Amino acid sequence: MKILLLGSGGREHALAWKIAQSARVEKLYIAPGNAGTNAAGENVDMKATDFPALKAFALEKGIDMIVVGPEDPLVQGIFDYFKADAATAHIAVIGPTAKGAMLEGSKEFAKEFMVRHNIPTARYKSVTSATLQEGLDFLETLEAPYVLKADGLCAGKGVLILPTLEEAKSELKEMLGGMFGDASATVVIEEFLSGIECSVFVMTDGRHYKVLPVAKDYKRIGEGDKGLNTGGMGSVTPVPFADEVFMEKVRTRIIEPTVNGLQEEGIRYQGFIFLGLINVKGEPMVIEYNVRMGDPETESVMLRIKSDFVELLEGVAQGDLDRRTLEFDPRTAACVMLVSGGYPEAYEKGKVMSGLEQAAQTDSILFHAGTAMKDGQTVTNGGRVIAVCSYGDTKEEALAKSYKVADRIDFEKKYFRRDIGFDL
Ligand code: AMP
Ligand code: GLY
Repeated sequence: MKILLLGSGGREHALAWKIAQSARVEKLYIAPGNAGTNAAGENVDMKATDFPALKAFALEKGIDMIVVGPEDPLVQGIFDYFKADAATAHIAVIGPTAKGAMLEGSKEFAKEFMVRHNIPTARYKSVTSATLQEGLDFLETLEAPYVLKADGLCAGKGVLILPTLEEAKSELKEMLGGMFGDASATVVIEEFLSGIECSVFVMTDGRHYKVLPVAKDYKRIGEGDKGLNTGGMGSVTPVPFADEVFMEKVRTRIIEPTVNGLQEEGIRYQGFIFLGLINVKGEPMVIEYNVRMGDPETESVMLRIKSDFVELLEGVAQGDLDRRTLEFDPRTAACVMLVSGGYPEAYEKGKVMSGLEQAAQTDSILFHAGTAMKDGQTVTNGGRVIAVCSYGDTKEEALAKSYKVADRIDFEKKYFRRDIGFDL
């Protein structure tokens, strides 16, 4: 089978690494990929949202399956684009329709969906500038801190958590006034939930589902989860509190109502559902839906899938996921992200990286996130640069291995968090 994987981050390198291990794969292309993905396949210089270019390429190369890494192409309707055209309708696209992708593309849609299907989530009110007063009144009924969410996609920046009512009111006005452009023309105001979060990844063919290893990511730049939000500084799987009792609640109260709800509403969905969950005193509640795999969770999760991942993807596309096997590696996997100094604010690119050869001699696995090749050398090319992932019989062992390698890889102003997994 010929597969085209879309995206360019650590998540996509991890997916490419896993896909390339399958005997079902004849050829793997990654568009646009990064300096790491070309070890698993062939990079192609195309944007993941340039549908006409992707179509022409897919037809020329005889692509059988497109695996979509990031949310943008899904929200923009890549599934529908390929299915609507007789020439490309036979190509399996792993991901939901544009309608299904609204679970991530519109926070208001996601909240309304959860309410319709009785899925546990924070109390909320959705407002626009025309209903600002209702929003201000709703804020009065909540307790601090206050959660404001831009309805649309904001590259992970659209959520504000505010300590006082005054700030919440003034930021609500700012958001509705265009702080995030059209994406915040509608704002979802939410009750704040306290608890520890985890990421649950579900593969579904629209009727059946399988749950991948549960992971936890670390979003803040600073140790102890302090400072600015990032694209993710590390991840660990499994998550001890996501035990059998918790996961049974997740299945019956969240996953099954979600998959069945999509089906009842006639929303075609053959892809990944990423549940951002929070454990509120043992009760799982949904913080958000995403319609793709998480980054950097995927970098750990792929290490723990023993089965042929492409067979599972084929099950997603063909509607017989129930007949495919998903076997987990019982070990722990932990990943530490090396980032450019200054990130998530201004940072420099183009720093020469050293120690990659020595790192390749260890049993840690490196997934490139923001790297490029320049004059035969690997250089930094993003805020998040490379994820160092390792197995261990315990979390401590996996992390110790990753930190050892993280210390060996070097580039000017390298930074990483040394406390990944601290709260588990
Ligand atoms: P999101 O962009 O939806 O993932 O939100 C970013 C982060 O804000 C989440 O990972 C949570 O840590 C936090 N968050 C979002 N909604 C809530 C909520 N209702 N209560 C507490 N924390 C929240
Ligand atoms: N790690 C969170 C995300 O991918 O959105």
